[in-house]
Amino acid sequence: MCGIVGYIGKDNAKDVIIDGLKRLEYRGYDSAGIALIVDSEIFTYKKQGKIRNIEIELRKVPVYSNIGIGHTRWATHGKPDDINAHPHLDCTKKIALVHNGIVENYAELRRELQTKGHTFLSQTDTEVIVHLIEEELKTSPDFFTAFLSAVKRLQGSYAIAVITLHQPDTIFVARKDSPLVIGLGEGENFVASDVPAFLSYTNRVIFLDDFEVATVNSNSVSVFNTDGERVEKKVVTVPWSLSQAEKAGYKHFMLKEINEQPRAVADTISGNLSWFRGESYLEGIDPNSFSRIQIVACGTSYHAGLIAKFYLENFAKVPTEVDYASEYRYREPIVDENTLVISITQSGETADTLAAMRLAREKGAKLLTICNVIGSTATREADTVIYTYAGPEISVASTKAFTTQLTALFLFTLYLSRERRALASDEVDSYLKELLELPSKIEAFLNLEREKEVVKKIALEFYRAKDALYLGRHVNYPIALEGALKLKEISYIHAEGYPAGEMKHGPIALIDENIPVVVVATRGKVLDKIVSNVEEVKARKGRVIAVTNPSVKKIGELAEFLIEVPEVNEYLSPIVNVVPLQLFAYYIADFLGYDVDQPRNLAKSVTVE
Ligand code: F6R
Repeated sequence: MCGIVGYIGKDNAKDVIIDGLKRLEYRGYDSAGIALIVDSEIFTYKKQGKIRNIEIELRKVPVYSNIGIGHTRWATHGKPDDINAHPHLDCTKKIALVHNGIVENYAELRRELQTKGHTFLSQTDTEVIVHLIEEELKTSPDFFTAFLSAVKRLQGSYAIAVITLHQPDTIFVARKDSPLVIGLGEGENFVASDVPAFLSYTNRVIFLDDFEVATVNSNSVSVFNTDGERVEKKVVTVPWSLSQAEKAGYKHFMLKEINEQPRAVADTISGNLSWFRGESYLEGIDPNSFSRIQIVACGTSYHAGLIAKFYLENFAKVPTEVDYASEYRYREPIVDENTLVISITQSGETADTLAAMRLAREKGAKLLTICNVIGSTATREADTVIYTYAGPEISVASTKAFTTQLTALFLFTLYLSRERRALASDEVDSYLKELLELPSKIEAFLNLEREKEVVKKIALEFYRAKDALYLGRHVNYPIALEGALKLKEISYIHAEGYPAGEMKHGPIALIDENIPVVVVATRGKVLDKIVSNVEEVKARKGRVIAVTNPSVKKIGELAEFLIEVPEVNEYLSPIVNVVPLQLFAYYIADFLGYDVDQPRNLAKSVTVE
């Protein structure tokens, strides 16, 4: 939420920062702004709306600078307008600051600073930080000391980047509970909320930890704790390429990412297979040391958790609970040292998920995270990490992160089942074989132009619908939830996912001749049950769209529209079945002319509670 970019080096900071902001726009797009040091003055430009608003204007302004900071905002305090856009300046106009997070004690700091004569222009919590630094500077020997003193007074979450005329060759940064990474170049350095911002320049990265600050010059980076003591940091090479963070000819990132799923799933399998070859897998966690599992996650990642419960209970025989992280943290969960808590998070920065992990840690649980972003907070706080190898996910609507999470969770389940002797090794091998065939099954569907055309045709038929119902059962019930979430978030059509068997307890009242009812009806132990549910929908004139397998004949007579997907083991079927639902939501949003990759009110990486 909110994207920060900073640059110092040999190029024109303006261009590097705009380029970086465009790559981080998925983190927020209410307003954007930039500050540069030009001819011993701070030049700022900020505007409501998308980065392209400032880009068009800035292209016309012949400013050159080798140091600057920029920001793309997802509004928390203060409406999304030009004034509340970052960067914010102090009264002397010698300090410019961008911030991601929430300063919880901003009201009292603001009052205190006002009594000392500071004038505030915006309604943001952020503006207090820059005034606080200005105030601290009055009694500090240098800017760094003032910066440290100000940072120490902040409560809440922050990633901050500052430039100042007091020390015009340095970017000052600080972090607590909001991501901040430093990219290392040759004679140039970068700061950002996320690696894709500077991936076209470098993939050598320092991940800042909580309560760390850093000074970034063009040839050096120094990291300190908030007492001003030096901290040695590891330089990590992130194995992502620039092409992964570009649209590569696709109209939208979402479409590209849907199409990348066969590769992403294959990479997630091969990246996690080492334990089958006898290498250590779960460092720090004995697979026999826990008697129960709790899964915490948000949104789409939560849906992956719901499916993982089926995996873990059916195969590994470990009792498993699944919670929204935002609920878990406030519900006094029963957790002890016999509990394994699994967090599932694409970004590794979701505030609620991190808070749930910390709560579980306090109560003595071991922590495993399933995560896509190397070096993210979740990966650093968990006892052990299973990475998904989806590559950067740019579209706000999650697609390839979800299917790779399921892949990783299935593999993890096989590992547990083998280690806890819940499955015989030939059974593990047989499931593994089916998993290895999965990428080609997803690819087979995505390569079938005819099937994609069918999905498009159905989207054209229903894109003006006001509501939609998604039904599934067993492992595909969470796919109904996920299909509905995808439609809601990018097309703004109200959609509900429901377990098909529950329909008669309420939602059946919604069914009439206008409502599309998307039913996941692929082969599995509940197929006959779901066919009966489809009969119930038909009897009430509902318009049925069925995701099914070519060999399932009985659904053909009932459904108005059929989307056929390859048949796979029923426990793996969610990973295939979700793909047409992602495409369906995509085409509808595109027909409606919406901004598919950056839907309204949303941001990727929800770093505030
Ligand atoms: C939906 C979506 C969100 C995220 C959720 C969790 O398409 O992207 O629901 O799944 O915000 O994010 P992570 O997985 O980064 O913790």
